[in-house]
Amino acid sequence: MVKICCIGAGYVGGPTMAVIALKCPKIEVVVVDIFEPRIIAWNSDQLPIYEPGLDDVVKQCRGKNLFFSKDVEKHVAEADIVFVSVNTPTKTQGLGAGKAADLTYWESAARMIADVSKSDKIVVEKSTVPVKTAEAIEKILTHNSKGINFQILSNPEFLAEGTAIQDLFKPDRVLIGGRETPEGQKAIQALKDVYAHWVPAERIICTNLWSAELSKLAANAFLAQRISSVNAMSALCEATGADVSQVSHAIGKDTRIGPKFLNASVGFGGSCFQKDILNLVYICECNGLTEVANYWKQVVQVNEYQKTRFVNRVVSSMFNTVSGKKIAILGFAFKKDTGDTRETPAIGVCRGLLGDKAILSIYDPQVPQEQIQRDLSMHKSELDKPPHLRPVSAIAIEQVTCVRDAYEATKGAHGICVLTEWDEFKTLDYQKIYNDMQKPAFVFDGRNVMDVDKLRQIGFIVYSIGKPLDAWLKDMPAVA
Ligand code: NAD
Ligand code: UDX
Repeated sequence: MVKICCIGAGYVGGPTMAVIALKCPKIEVVVVDIFEPRIIAWNSDQLPIYEPGLDDVVKQCRGKNLFFSKDVEKHVAEADIVFVSVNTPTKTQGLGAGKAADLTYWESAARMIADVSKSDKIVVEKSTVPVKTAEAIEKILTHNSKGINFQILSNPEFLAEGTAIQDLFKPDRVLIGGRETPEGQKAIQALKDVYAHWVPAERIICTNLWSAELSKLAANAFLAQRISSVNAMSALCEATGADVSQVSHAIGKDTRIGPKFLNASVGFGGSCFQKDILNLVYICECNGLTEVANYWKQVVQVNEYQKTRFVNRVVSSMFNTVSGKKIAILGFAFKKDTGDTRETPAIGVCRGLLGDKAILSIYDPQVPQEQIQRDLSMHKSELDKPPHLRPVSAIAIEQVTCVRDAYEATKGAHGICVLTEWDEFKTLDYQKIYNDMQKPAFVFDGRNVMDVDKLRQIGFIVYSIGKPLDAWLKDMPAVA
């Protein structure tokens, strides 16, 4: 029986390994982590992450061929294939701070693998890493290996949160990069054999190590670039009376452009896009490619601009001040169907409104109150860290209340900001909400999910990103 061990029981390690275990009943899969509460949660009925369909998959194989353990060294020593799916946040200090990937967790995992291994192993980079990381990992492993043969593969993960299980069941492609030596090719084949249990052969792409590593950064950069492109258009739409949804639809019909990932929003969030683009920028700079670095940097800058533009729009629409006004925040997660708040645009928007002394009442169906308070009360450089490594700041955030439903959040409010596209926000009783709000009552839709005409008929003043402005907003001072 092949034994797989995955180091890192996070958003990637947990779901990915659960699906491998489900699809390969003859392979034993153990997911290990140094953070014990996460392992306890994986072994309980309350899994540590919310992901549609995940509970089912875990229930079907946990205790049979899927195990979660804190006994990292034992399971690494016993494994034939070791996936490393630890976090690789942006460095916050030292050389490359604010851009380069922090490989501390990766390096310590690699050193531990070298220390405890007694047999040959395939070590798989599952984390997103800078191009050429495999070379560094190889050095660590071979310098400490006591003659053991390690083959390094790059097998980046392309799942998106909220759809992780369906992405893993039917991936657009699986990418495996390895050395172009006979041993490297043999290792690629061994990993291909695992995925071949459910992924059609033509969807498994094999490349050299550096192409696989770089393809992951490139894919995220291209995806984020589409969002910044459409968000840049949204500002022009507001200035000209064009409607960004109509523009997206029209350009997306061109098969060379395609319809996906063209939804204008308050900005992209999530643990990957910004981190991976900054990492790409850093690699370009290190290779002397200043123009290329500047090109990709702009994708992140437009994203920041979009969040600022949204805050400015809220404040300027409400007579240029939100001081002492109750604003309901509907949605805090970085997208629907996840409880993850890493780099969520809601953090920037809420902080901007708090800076103007607003009183925030926040409702999100999946994000716990403690998480929201932690996110709003700490320094931005700390937000990249995994939740358990984020310090709880002593700063009191008395301007923020977290509530259990949208009606409580909006009661008595002057305005509503929709910051996550949760389905339940589309079917709320907006007449009731309007009746219970201060007048004039505002809706600022940061996700373009509201029925603008219906809300205007009720009496709301509505701002929707990239849509023609209503008369009220046109009369207000222009925003940056
Ligand atoms: P995460 O923070 O949710 O999980 C990482 C886990 O690794 C944590 O639980 C941490 O305790 C554990 N860990 C760190 N060092 C360890 C060590 N030495 N030994 C054992 N455990 C250790 O991160 P994630 O979101 O799962 O992301 C993991 C990697 O996958 C990152 O490189 C990320 O860029 C990449 N990725 C993430 C996504 C996503 O949607 N989240 C998608 C594709 C790729
Ligand atoms: C992303 C990549 O999609 C995935 O392939 C990679 O493995 C990890 O990073 P994720 O961040 O989980 O996945 O979610 P994604 O669906 O890509 O959304 C990222 C952000 O972009 C979210 O805040 C989302 O709301 C926003 N977005 C997405 C838009 O604003 N407009 C769009 O059209 C699409």
